Amino acid sequence: MVNIVDISARVGSVRLKNPIMSASGTFGFGVEAARLYDINRLGGVVMKGVTVQPRRGNPLPRVTDCPSGMLNAVGLENPGVDRALKDELPALADIYGGPIIANICGFTIDEYAELAARFDGSDLISALEVNVSCPNVSHGGMTFGTDAKAAGDVTRAVRRAAKKPVWVKLSPNVTDVAEIARACEAEGADALTLINTLLGMRIDLRSRRPVLGNTLGGLSGPCVLPVALRMVWQAYEAVKIPIVGMGGISSARDVVEMTLAGASAVQVGTAGLVEPSALVDIADALPGIIAGMGLNGYGALVGAAHG
Ligand SMILES: Cc1cc2nc3c(=O)[nH]c(=O)nc-3n(C[C@H](O)[C@H](O)[C@H](O)COP(=O)(O)O)c2cc1C
Repeated sequence: MVNIVDISARVGSVRLKNPIMSASGTFGFGVEAARLYDINRLGGVVMKGVTVQPRRGNPLPRVTDCPSGMLNAVGLENPGVDRALKDELPALADIYGGPIIANICGFTIDEYAELAARFDGSDLISALEVNVSCPNVSHGGMTFGTDAKAAGDVTRAVRRAAKKPVWVKLSPNVTDVAEIARACEAEGADALTLINTLLGMRIDLRSRRPVLGNTLGGLSGPCVLPVALRMVWQAYEAVKIPIVGMGGISSARDVVEMTLAGASAVQVGTAGLVEPSALVDIADALPGIIAGMGLNGYGALVGAAHG
């Protein structure tokens, strides 16, 4: 007997044919991956982070590895919103028919609002993912996402500027993720996505200097999965809006675990940098894992680990 397992997912009003989305910054604007496999097999594509002005990014080296993970300090290299809207987004929409999510990053509240309004004006965008891990230049560079009030202020500004669903992407570099999650929900976020990378560094023994050109970088990959699960769990307990879970997912089993913790869909980043086909391999393996659990649909798993 063939088991038909429904792996469609939804994040509020955004419907995905499967719960696997690319994680921002690890998939460019999708065109490179499309040379390797049919990206239409993905549930959603989250674009590289876009800022108002083009950015060259941080000094080299920008990436290094560690056991079961990597550190990056790319520094938001991107072509800026004008070119993203004019060239990159239409090129992606030409080859990808599913939901496209714009990831935006501002250095002031006004920049977040401007980016939200610009992407909101495009029919090609299904939702906005607001990266609050950007430095707040008017507050000495402390990131918006590490302070509940600042994260709430960004959410409110984006909410006012846009009609499309607003997903706020939370930083794991905080003491109390529940407080920040609640602040974003109160200001009108439609969903939360978490986690972004954990702050880390490595030091080179020969030069006795930090390895990364930026000194500090963001840790991602399998080593962060337990942290991500814990934070998705805590956010799920704190808010009613849907959660998109990410951080260290590298198998369909990890997707199920993240979903049981409270995610309605997931994003996969570093695993796709290690093995480009990882995202579609995970999507292909998911029905078998769900059927093996005696279920016929992905939706029944969402938050099911909570009592
Ligand atoms: C090279 C690299 C670049 C990234 N760039 C962005 C970005 O531009 N915007 C963003 O919100 N997150 C960015 N991230 C964070 C990822 O989207 C994701 O939240 C994080 O890597 C955890 O997932 P993973 O362990 O599956 O990679 C980046 C991560 C990596 C590894």
